[in-house]
Amino acid sequence: MAVKNHAVLVSPIADEVMRGLCAASRHLPPKLFYDAAGSHLFEQITETPEYYPTRTERAILKGYAGEIVRQAGNNLTLVELGAGSASKTQVLIEALLRRQLRADFYPVDVSSSALQGALTTLNGHFPRLRVSPIVADYTHQIPNLNALPGRKLVLFIGSTIGNFEPDEALAFLKSVHASLQPGDALLIGFDLIKDADVLHAAYNDAQGVTAAFNKNMLVRINRELGGSFDLDGFEHVAFWNRRKSRIEMHLESLYEQTVWVQDLGRGFHFQKGKRIHTENSYKFNPASIARLLRRSGFKLEKSWTDPQGWFCEALARV
Ligand code: AVJ
Repeated sequence: MAVKNHAVLVSPIADEVMRGLCAASRHLPPKLFYDAAGSHLFEQITETPEYYPTRTERAILKGYAGEIVRQAGNNLTLVELGAGSASKTQVLIEALLRRQLRADFYPVDVSSSALQGALTTLNGHFPRLRVSPIVADYTHQIPNLNALPGRKLVLFIGSTIGNFEPDEALAFLKSVHASLQPGDALLIGFDLIKDADVLHAAYNDAQGVTAAFNKNMLVRINRELGGSFDLDGFEHVAFWNRRKSRIEMHLESLYEQTVWVQDLGRGFHFQKGKRIHTENSYKFNPASIARLLRRSGFKLEKSWTDPQGWFCEALARV
């Protein structure tokens, strides 16, 4: 009879959930959104009429793929941080393969299932592309890119940078910079500051997909940690914080309650109105983009935006 080692049975999310729910200002890290169900809900968010970022970025990439790839340089090796299904990347790959016979693509993601999907799709579409997926949490450890052949173009699209706190964004981009060589480039997507109503609607879609995405955090704690969150006991709250230039998402307790989480061995008391902060989505302007890239060691070379000025794709050089 094997002796059960508790430490290896506890879910990998236990530590972060414990820390976040014990903090004075309760919070949960946004990466916990992205289990299989959450990734699917995010895909559905991108199809709501209110959520403009994905389709706006896709249009920029579609319109300027040739220019972007040409600007990045010859003989490129593509690396994508947080590649997911890599669906937006395909137009860049097409443009790249018009300029060079073969290319290497290293999609990096925490989700091996998403990478498996990307691998299958890309292999089917692009026989001249060699895809080598890397399963890694790039927020903890940037894979060693120096070892990869050719001039690197690192893609960090989707405005994922907006999920980092300002100091984390700076530290993260510094470490990306340090993992590259002179002449390598970074293509990074930023969601831009715009009309507050447009921003608000994008995170409060009428169909409630974003609300379900937010609450999926609780579904996940219930399933993976034996939690007892009542999904009707919490409400999705999302608003534009102009002073901090970010959308904030929270889950607000609708009444006083104590939620027991079996695998954490304790309960969490919530007053009515008590919130769990689940996400910040920072929005940028041309000045804040230039400043962030400069401080992290990159040289901003060129940027592209849509006609409404809602999203920005920036190419920065090491
Ligand atoms: C994937 C981080 C860009 O911040 O807009 C969508 C995630 N959160 N709706 C964003 C998200 C709520 C999204 N990013």
